[in-house]
Amino acid sequence: MKGIILAGGAGSRLFPLTLVASKQLQPVYDKPMVYYPLTTLIESGIREFCLISTPHDLPRFRQLLGNGKEWGLSIDYREQAKPAGIGQAFLIADSFVGKDAVTLILGDNIFYGGDSFKRAFAEFKSGATIFGYQVHDPERYGVVEFDEKGQAISIEEKPKVPKSHFAVPGLYIYDNEVLDITRNLKPSARGELEITDINVAYLNRKQLRVHRLSRGFAWLDAGTSSSLHDASAYVQTIEKRQGIKIGCPEEAAFRQGFITLEQLDDIATKMPNCEYREYLCSIVKEAKR
Ligand code: DAU
Repeated sequence: MKGIILAGGAGSRLFPLTLVASKQLQPVYDKPMVYYPLTTLIESGIREFCLISTPHDLPRFRQLLGNGKEWGLSIDYREQAKPAGIGQAFLIADSFVGKDAVTLILGDNIFYGGDSFKRAFAEFKSGATIFGYQVHDPERYGVVEFDEKGQAISIEEKPKVPKSHFAVPGLYIYDNEVLDITRNLKPSARGELEITDINVAYLNRKQLRVHRLSRGFAWLDAGTSSSLHDASAYVQTIEKRQGIKIGCPEEAAFRQGFITLEQLDDIATKMPNCEYREYLCSIVKEAKR
């Protein structure tokens, strides 16, 4: 399975912060935002990535993440000239996806807790798998409605009158059909190729699975100054309390077996003296015991 990280968009809601760096490069407590979605996919077993961003911001992502080799990954980069919709990611990454299944994650979505994703990836065979997460303000999101048996029966993008409190988070898993579906998709009234329309297409084909994420699971989106601050505070709280890091790609790559203990040691030792380095060194020390 291939992985796409969509990290473009205008970032206008975070202006003037976005004069300095794009939204997905902003700090979320102790690391750049893009580390979190990248780590989520590494933890789900994905090794081959394509990161999509604006022509202006793409060089910074390349500088930050490189070709991924050091972390046992491969990372390709593609430009999105204009923010013409989340669905456009599949057209841009068409040659990268090839004949494989693909997962798309939004670069400003932060997830933490449980093994729901891991299980969903392991169970995925064909069609589409998306998730439902209970929120108090569903009108801001794609909203999924369930029947009494728990089957998804409708999905709407930012409905004025939501039919449920279940929002669709920015992590989607598709079979290769998604490429054809997207090629035949018409832009919405706001001129975008909507991810919700792709999900509706799978729903109409009766090939959509919606996993409900449990109460203990955290989904944060960091798209406004306030939610960015909340996300940082959340990460800080968990990290201080538990002494673990959320969104640490080096650790995830090691635990997935993408890099060896020696490689992790090497990565850590090359870092300047900082808390992040100490953390990685503590993992190495623990593993050597
Ligand atoms: O966060 C989950 C929600 O994401 C879903 O529930 C919605 O169904 C989905 O449409 C999307 O809603 P948003 O209002 O959050 O979409 P937004 O336009 O803010 O884009 C989300 C991220 O994707 C953002 O970080 C910018 C990036 N993006 C967006 C578009 C439209 C791109 O890189 N390129 C694009 O063309």
